[in-house]
Amino acid sequence: MAILIGDAAPDFEADTSEGHIRFHDYIDGHWAVLFSHPKNFTPVCTTELGYTAKLKPEFDKRGVKVLGLSVDELKNHAGWAADIEETQGTRLNFPVIADPRGEIARKYDMIHPNADNTLTVRSVFVIGPDKKVKLKIEYPASTGRNFDEVLRVIDSLQLTARHQVATPVNWKNGEDVIIVTSVTDEQAKAKYPEGWKAVKPYLRIVPQPRG
Ligand code: BEZ
Repeated sequence: MAILIGDAAPDFEADTSEGHIRFHDYIDGHWAVLFSHPKNFTPVCTTELGYTAKLKPEFDKRGVKVLGLSVDELKNHAGWAADIEETQGTRLNFPVIADPRGEIARKYDMIHPNADNTLTVRSVFVIGPDKKVKLKIEYPASTGRNFDEVLRVIDSLQLTARHQVATPVNWKNGEDVIIVTSVTDEQAKAKYPEGWKAVKPYLRIVPQPRG
């Protein structure tokens, strides 16, 4: 059965480029990004892993642990990591899971048999500290993902978790946000004593809360 937003993120044990992990213990108390790439030593994947390694300080700032997953043998990861460093100018600085039998990939529905029977598509799961799936994105193997967009969604998810606000179309960190409809005007008055802009009774805009 497909894993959907709001579902529990399945636990697993795996060998990674940074040692053996049990997923739930590894991410304990943190947000996490788990993303699959179809195959080691392939061009699009090489650029994605290099860019994600460059963004690692941004993920760290947000308390997010990043893990890649490949249906390749662990012994292949080291050679590919050297290529990533040489061609993308960044050393791999997060664990890449070795899933040669595709067991974890199948648990997370990362293999779409009508696209390819053995390789994964480009899946991204953002998982909250409650170990529930908060975001799921799927791209075909031929299209590299936008990891700046993954960071943007994490900013939105973390704001919602902290402040009961939602984010409008094309929102970027620092821009105005929307008070969620489950917050009554009475409750909103307590939280936003300086008020809000009510475009409609259900569309209440406030500056992005800090902290
Ligand atoms: C790539 O990373 O370039 C790639 C991997 C698998 C299929 C197609 C492209």
